[in-house]
Amino acid sequence: MPGPARTGKIYAGGPCNHGSVPTLTDLARNFTSLSGADLEWLHSLVSDWQLLADLSFADLILWVPSRAPEGAPSSGWVAVAQMRPTTGPTSFPDDVVGSQVAPGERPVLDTARVERRIHRESDPDWTSGVPVRAEAIPVTRDGRAIAVIERSTNLNGARTPSRLELTYLAGADDLSRMISEGTFPYPGHDTTLVRSPRVGDGMLRLDAAGRVTYASPNAQSAYRRLGLTGDLMGAELGSATAQLAATGAPVDESLMLVTRGRAPRETEIEVNGTVVQLRSIPLVVGGQRTGALVLVRDVTELRRRERELLTKEATIREIHHRVKNNLQTVAALLRLQARRLSAPEARAALQEAVRRVGSIAIVHETLSHAPEEIVDFDDIADRVAMMAGEVSSPEVRVTPKITGQFGMLPATVATPLAMVLTELLQNALQHGFGSTTKSSGWGTAGADAGIIEVVAARAPELLTVTVTDSGAGLPPGFDLENTTSLGLQIVRTLVEGELGGQISLRPRDGGGTIAVVDLPVRYEPEAMRLARIVRGAAAPRTRRVGSPARRRRGHEGAASGA
Ligand SMILES: Nc1ncnc2c1ncn2[C@@H]1O[C@H](COP(=O)(O)OP(=O)(O)OP(=O)(O)O)[C@@H](O)[C@H]1O
Ligand SMILES: [Mg+2]
Repeated sequence: MPGPARTGKIYAGGPCNHGSVPTLTDLARNFTSLSGADLEWLHSLVSDWQLLADLSFADLILWVPSRAPEGAPSSGWVAVAQMRPTTGPTSFPDDVVGSQVAPGERPVLDTARVERRIHRESDPDWTSGVPVRAEAIPVTRDGRAIAVIERSTNLNGARTPSRLELTYLAGADDLSRMISEGTFPYPGHDTTLVRSPRVGDGMLRLDAAGRVTYASPNAQSAYRRLGLTGDLMGAELGSATAQLAATGAPVDESLMLVTRGRAPRETEIEVNGTVVQLRSIPLVVGGQRTGALVLVRDVTELRRRERELLTKEATIREIHHRVKNNLQTVAALLRLQARRLSAPEARAALQEAVRRVGSIAIVHETLSHAPEEIVDFDDIADRVAMMAGEVSSPEVRVTPKITGQFGMLPATVATPLAMVLTELLQNALQHGFGSTTKSSGWGTAGADAGIIEVVAARAPELLTVTVTDSGAGLPPGFDLENTTSLGLQIVRTLVEGELGGQISLRPRDGGGTIAVVDLPVRYEPEAMRLARIVRGAAAPRTRRVGSPARRRRGHEGAASGA
């Protein structure tokens, strides 16, 4: 039988020609009959197979038998995942994922699957111009070969084997055998570190007794920095590490497990300000413990930067908290002063100032909880609306209703927008339903029947906020451009000047006023989008301000207590 061709013909025509690479799950679902548990196993495998690619200096392709068409004698294969080595050149500059091969076209895969053993092609394949040796490693789960890893080594890259390379390749062989025997990935064990150490970060090889038989230069310098003075080679890693860490504190149990190479674990050790991640990969081949690989990564610099960022973030939050407190103090002072005044107009003016300061305080309070300078404006809108309602005259029985989604907004937008919303709501309450005005009502007449509605609509580049009231309507001859009063001037300055948007006021059909604010929200960074998904806020919602739960929260807000 002629050697299987590794040509473009075979790998071409995959369903991934339109750019995006399909996921393992998609491919498995569409082209194979893998069970859920098998798929889990493969996910777990590919989350960790960089290790095998690096140790092998080889490319890996994960092939799964494709769902055989009805009546077909045998199935073909579909490539569901691919990994390139970070330790050597790749043999596949192009993506292979999604490619399919017809039944019988790659006997090496079929043999590995049927015989459940690692199968090597006898001759290197030259189709791509360089000699490539292919090996097929069955992926076994529960005694069945559910997939096959094709490992392709570019033989041109083969160098005079050094100690390092021989150790890597030996580790790769052990891992391959474990995969074919169904003992790797480790059942039930998932890597916990965000970015586990890789082979290139530093590697130790332990024998069955836990003694170091090989230490890569990086691993050695990491241990030097931890304070090791003796030789790592030949040392028992468990006790050598325990001595380093023995600064009075009891030795961490997982550290012992990792450094003895007994359990697949990850841990971190910190000595004298040096932080090193350790990950052990116990090797058990043919039921025989042959030792372990321990990956070593010095993360001192990384940790230092993380800590710096954390402190910076905490500081920013603390500043927002203090600004909020100060604003609340200012609001309280103004409120006190308002009480001492007898002139109603002066009193009203101060009360409005209280409200304006309060709405800024709300934004700062929200920011003091937000990890980034991004806030959930729906929360702020609820509280602003409630505050406006609370300050309005007691005869007015109108509860503002908010529908739609403001979404996540940067602080630079949130602060002015909160003020704009405050003013518009206040106008709706004051002029629409003030005690001196008559409600034209929606349906029934009388102040109780009034409606104030805030609608937020977020398009990719635009946020539209509408404040509608069913109140008395704008006075005759009203002209937004020429108002001299403070409220709408603030609104216009903020909307047109600071936010680069537009504002318009017009009469509502059937009585009342509609205020429309259009704001460009030029981009929505990924972080905001994700934050929204996490909060599950994608669904549209209607809510009434002042429900018991919200009310309780609102009372923590600014300027709401007397
Ligand atoms: N929703 C509304 N319904 C009826 N009239 C409104 C409405 N919004 C604004 N107006 C009219 O526009 C005028 C200007 O509003 P603006 O908010 O600028 O000033 P104000 O509310 O009178 O005073 P303040 O500076 O305290 O806000 C109001 O006096 C009112 O006549
Ligand atoms: Mg006003």
